[in-house]
Amino acid sequence: MIIAIDGPAAAGKSTIARRLASALDLAFLDTGAMYRAVTWAALERDVPTADAEGCARLAQELDLDFDPEGRILIDGRPGEPGIRSSAVDDAVSQVSAHPAVRRAVVPKQREVAERRGVVAEGRDIGTVVFPGADHKFFLVASAEERARRRAAQIGRPEEQATIEAALRRRDELDSTRADSPLVRADDAVLVETDGLGVDQVVEALLAHVRGVRS
Ligand code: DC
Repeated sequence: MIIAIDGPAAAGKSTIARRLASALDLAFLDTGAMYRAVTWAALERDVPTADAEGCARLAQELDLDFDPEGRILIDGRPGEPGIRSSAVDDAVSQVSAHPAVRRAVVPKQREVAERRGVVAEGRDIGTVVFPGADHKFFLVASAEERARRRAAQIGRPEEQATIEAALRRRDELDSTRADSPLVRADDAVLVETDGLGVDQVVEALLAHVRGVRS
């Protein structure tokens, strides 16, 4: 079974996808982590993030895999926490917009899903990577709510406004790029998560997957 979860930055996709995967005994596939890994490697190796060919070469050469908990391994080494740095946050939309990078990364995502069923989350999962997914969800929340959650998560409530500005910038870049923009698939179920807790969202998705539309 393949379940696709798309949506803007910090909409809770990873948390929800991880929980859904564990409830359904599927693997969790964090596709954003793969673009973050390429971005992290470009920054480490002084490959300019504007250099599409250089970044694509990196994307092809890197061995990107996941440990049993779904955390990314870059050439066999843990990618966390490096891939979550603010330097990567700031550059990842530019790197992931290069069509040549996407051409290198998407087959790796499909390879993971060939091994076993997955709950995959990202921006183009239901539209491009797995258009034939068994279930598709599009998770949204207001930018304010997403920034509030992210600020609380990292324990810096005073940074909410800065975080919100960065999220809006990334959403804009991800939604307006030419190749595989962030957009809801026609057949994806829209889930608005403002004011909902993680448990409520997971329950709603599980109910849908199990065919009980409460
Ligand atoms: O979900 P995330 O914040 O870790 O994703 C990081 C960036 O990667 C995001 O800003 C856009 C890009 N991305 C993408 O283009 N396609 C995906 N399927 C997943 C992420």
